[in-house]
Amino acid sequence: MTNLEDIVSLCKRRGFIYPSSEVYGGFSSSYDFGPLGTELENNIKGVWWSEMTKIHDNIVGLDSAILMSPKIWEASGHVAKFSDLMTECEKCKKRFKVDNLIEELVKSEKSLLLSTDIKKVNEKLKETKCPLCGGKLAEARPFNLMFKTHVSAVEKKESEVYLRPETCQGIYVNFKNVIDSMRAKIPFGIAQIGKAFRNEINPKDFLFRVREFEQMEMQWFCNSKDANKYFEYWKEERIKWYLNLGIKKENLRAREIPEKERAHYAKRQIDLEYKYPFGWDEIEGIHNRGDWDLSTHSKHSGKDLKYLDKQTNQKYIPNIIETSVGVGRLFLAFLSEAYQEVKGGRTETTKSTKEQELVLKLDKRLSPVKVAVFPLIKKDKKLVKLAKNVFKDLKKEFVSQYDEVDSVGRRYRRQDEIGTPYCVTIDFDSLNDKTVTIRDRDTMKQERVEIDELSNILEDKLKA
Ligand code: GAP
Repeated sequence: MTNLEDIVSLCKRRGFIYPSSEVYGGFSSSYDFGPLGTELENNIKGVWWSEMTKIHDNIVGLDSAILMSPKIWEASGHVAKFSDLMTECEKCKKRFKVDNLIEELVKSEKSLLLSTDIKKVNEKLKETKCPLCGGKLAEARPFNLMFKTHVSAVEKKESEVYLRPETCQGIYVNFKNVIDSMRAKIPFGIAQIGKAFRNEINPKDFLFRVREFEQMEMQWFCNSKDANKYFEYWKEERIKWYLNLGIKKENLRAREIPEKERAHYAKRQIDLEYKYPFGWDEIEGIHNRGDWDLSTHSKHSGKDLKYLDKQTNQKYIPNIIETSVGVGRLFLAFLSEAYQEVKGGRTETTKSTKEQELVLKLDKRLSPVKVAVFPLIKKDKKLVKLAKNVFKDLKKEFVSQYDEVDSVGRRYRRQDEIGTPYCVTIDFDSLNDKTVTIRDRDTMKQERVEIDELSNILEDKLKA
């Protein structure tokens, strides 16, 4: 089992993720994506986007604003209900999410965590001490997870707005626009990728729970009579997507969420869970939201959000099946799955002590760098010139790196560590016969190909 510290360390060392605001001493639970992290993140989003909008039929994209009318969040129930119960240690002043605390300390009484009866929760809290210093815990109080800000220079009640805590509301309030402008017919979907913000009380586990994250959400609009069928369909499709990108079957499971644990809008909810280095936890939610969202926005806005089926002349509020996943949770899952330490090293040209080598076996579609180009030695000017020319051509098509430092073995290792699927070496034969070797990250096999064919061959290999 990969451990989280190793992944965090790799991320910092090789430019995937940096702690935020480091030069000012850091800013807890915020992270910056470095050059390789940005590529990986873009690849994750690209694969999801193309799955939704190209491979599936009838799904269109949207990119709605982060700042929207606060009336949206009143209608959606977020102002009233999007809260966690929070307590504070009276001694060390550390704040805790009550359900985490009671889950940790009173595992057998999970039902209590869902209780809306604050009195009962507080009785339980009286028997519980601060897990950090043993201090007394204050009474629980609800804590709304939405970040508030102001849209005018004067901070007054009327200018209050929220940073969106989920991207899907921007889809619901544009449902009518999409129908009218795109002549969309039910069933159809709207997909969106964008930032969401939650003032989490206890952010934790690196990218797993943070306050600023990106969501990829798809809302499938259908007739209520088909909602169960599409719920099953999307559950299966989403599971297939993970397995196709290299997540092992044994590391993914679907958990049916019982009614009392479900979000207020969900008629049915399945959480896809991944076996993270810190244990099983939610990676994606699949929800049958019924007609809750469009009905509530219709009621609060006074606008008719019914769909007219022109064939049957039937008018109805569609049901929504939602798939919702955070890019950061996927990022962490793909890295955890790909991370492999090979004890004693891999059997090839490396001159290292061979104690341990690291290979990131990412799916090629996700690898941040697709190809690395090396001259066999950096002292030979002709080799370097040819290698730089090959690199210059390849980088127009693939994210590529050029490396001439250290032995070729060490350069392979550096690329293995970041999951580069192919390395191209230019040697003395290349100067005469215009061929180069391509080395495969996973098989470590090398093949000789013509420089003129290199780009086509790599393109085919990256597709395979
Ligand atoms: N629109 C439905 C919705 O937002 P959710 O279960 O609250 O449902 C969906 O969130 C997904 O968003 C989660 O499965 C997770 O991947 C991601 N997510 C939610 N909160 C997060 C956080 N604080 N940090 C990182 N990812 C988060």
